Amino acid sequence: SLIKSSLIDPDGGPLVDLVVPENEKALKKKEAESMPKLKLSKIDLEWVHVISEGWANPLKGFMREDEYLQSMHFNFLRLNDGNIVNMSLPIVLAIDDKDKETIGLSSDVGLIAPDGNLIAILRSVQIYKHNKEERIARIWGTTAPGLPYVEEVITPAGNWLIGGDLEVLEPIKYNDGLDHYRLSPRELRKEFDKRQADAVFAFQLRNPVHNGHALLMNDTRRRLLEMGYKNPILLLHPLGGFVKADDVPLDVRMEQHSKVLEDGVLDPETTIVAIFPSPMHYAGPTEVQWHAKARINAGANFYIVGRDPAGMSHPTEKRDLYDPDHGKKVLSMAPGLEKLNILPFKVAAYDKTAKKMAFFDPSRAQDFLFISGTKAHFLLKDILLAPHCKPVSLKARIVKGGYHNVYQP
Ligand code: ADX
Repeated sequence: SLIKSSLIDPDGGPLVDLVVPENEKALKKKEAESMPKLKLSKIDLEWVHVISEGWANPLKGFMREDEYLQSMHFNFLRLNDGNIVNMSLPIVLAIDDKDKETIGLSSDVGLIAPDGNLIAILRSVQIYKHNKEERIARIWGTTAPGLPYVEEVITPAGNWLIGGDLEVLEPIKYNDGLDHYRLSPRELRKEFDKRQADAVFAFQLRNPVHNGHALLMNDTRRRLLEMGYKNPILLLHPLGGFVKADDVPLDVRMEQHSKVLEDGVLDPETTIVAIFPSPMHYAGPTEVQWHAKARINAGANFYIVGRDPAGMSHPTEKRDLYDPDHGKKVLSMAPGLEKLNILPFKVAAYDKTAKKMAFFDPSRAQDFLFISGTKAHFLLKDILLAPHCKPVSLKARIVKGGYHNVYQP
């Protein structure tokens, strides 16, 4: 288009586009037939999706060893021009001894989706050791048993990692009725331009929207208008990849989000709801940097962060795994995120005197009731999955019964 976008630039240069053009597909597919093949897991495929659309810009494929080491030890990548981009999670593909043997000295490998289709080519591959203990300890700061991503992905994985440049043969689709929500960074930028946004503020979440979340988002909008922005647009951006078993399933969350907009808890005129395709690590302050970085690539220049982002309870002890204030502190200081405006928020809790969610005021602590999104979800689940309730009513209640009003007794 001729209109110059005023959105924040993608991280580390123009957005990558790793999807092979239509007229080259047939040839590449044919070429791939003679390559050794690797079978991807569901979560590997989510990462292919993430990389292919430029969420991890300027990353062009699964990390080779240099990128892996920088990401794991520094939380950033140094580019050829000397600049850095934040990259706090290694995005890697693990293989086992047998895969390694199959690949041999081949420089290119075909990637097979879980449905059996050839989905991508990994070029100029490099295979290096996967020290799982080191990776886990560095990313999570603990090797305690029960970390969801570790148990689901890392522990069962092979002892090698394979890096290389990705060429994606088909755009990643899930055919779950939610693909229309999966807007790429490019598509989101187009939408923000179309709406003539002069500020884009992103809200990452993996729980249903509760009144605490709504307070953060509506307060941000008010602050941006006060700062002089005329048309701030909210990107309500639920995470759509792997989540732990007791989190609310994506389809239920999407219905709940629609309902929240329908009810006017958030303003539909100035909100875009889309799915962020990344899997969840639950790695607290380390992971929240990834959550923020990825949204720069989608055009967001403001990022909301509240209590204990990407956090969870310690898997074996009765406490939060991370200090609930560290996420926002780390984000405000993170190398490579200087161009993103971080909007840190105090914890929101139910104010029993005002009878609504409000920012916690320590001078009258006794007036506040703390229920985290996760706890509220458990409360709800406990009530709804009681013997007299059919499991199906969990979904019905969250969507129809106004889950976002769970704090209003
Ligand atoms: S997350 O894993 O995506 O971070 P969640 O969906 O619970 O988890 O939270 C989304 C965002 O809302 C995060 O920025 C988190 O810090 C913030 N948040 C959640 N609950 C509260 C609360 N009670 N007070 C302040 N911020 C909160």
